[in-house]
Amino acid sequence: MTDSRPVMDRYAVMGNPVAHSKSPRIHSLFARQTAQRLQYEAIRVGSGNLAAAIDDFLSAGGKGLNITVPLKEEAWALAQSRSGRAERAGAVNTLVLDQSGNHFADNTDGAGLARDLLHNHGCTLQQKRLLLVGAGGAARGVIEPLLLEQPSLLVIANRTAEKAVELARLFCDFGHTEGCGLDDVAGQSFDLIINATAASLAGQVPALPNSVVTTDSWCYDMMYADKPTAFMDWARQRGAAACLDGMGMLVEQAAESFYLWRNVRPDTRPVMQALRNPG
Ligand code: ATR
Repeated sequence: MTDSRPVMDRYAVMGNPVAHSKSPRIHSLFARQTAQRLQYEAIRVGSGNLAAAIDDFLSAGGKGLNITVPLKEEAWALAQSRSGRAERAGAVNTLVLDQSGNHFADNTDGAGLARDLLHNHGCTLQQKRLLLVGAGGAARGVIEPLLLEQPSLLVIANRTAEKAVELARLFCDFGHTEGCGLDDVAGQSFDLIINATAASLAGQVPALPNSVVTTDSWCYDMMYADKPTAFMDWARQRGAAACLDGMGMLVEQAAESFYLWRNVRPDTRPVMQALRNPG
């Protein structure tokens, strides 16, 4: 007997590595919760191969993609149309594919971070002093949404100071932004410190001066692991008021992508609970 049900819409995350990506689990939980019939897989794609991989996926009926490390900039360059926030971020994490070959590109990372901070953790950013550590693609994607919350100051500090200075210049129209090296924030303290470096991947912590953390500071690592990251341990040892990981951001950016594809907004809380308690 043949299955007469319509073929399921296909979605995927492309990147390298992707084997341990949580996105297939998150999107299948969203789909079940919202009664959407779709299939979501992880596809390993190396640098330089994204255009061909997208074409193949489209020919196989693909409707949308998440793009992860190291392909976010490559996806930006390939996209025919981009949202304003993706345009300025210089990196995309979501593609909406249509069969005519027009791909709309967006970046939902920053919105995911802002929503996690404001909505899930009840943090306010207005008139606060923010420190964003790192100046790669991950940092770049979150600057605009942070500045839209009208902090009194956003300092971007990076191991290679010039990259932070350049990023601060690019986003200065959105609010008071300064770029500098890690040492240059000595003597200053911040209400919120966000780690957007790749250091946690190697179990390392950016070499920040101790002054930046006080007992009122919130510390947020955009990385997520099954145990606290090195940055979270560092923050806790210095008495930070809160030490948060990037799991909420991961689920919230996925919800934004899901909404772009399906026009349905999933409830993220039960999905976060399921990821925290896999058993
Ligand atoms: P991504 O796109 O994930 O942001 P990236 O563009 O390679 O990746 O950027 C990695 C960021 O992490 C950079 O800001 C990098 O600092 P440099 O610009 O000086 O290279 C930062 N980074 C990586 N390892 C680090 C470490 N051990 N200490 C401090 N910063 C680190």
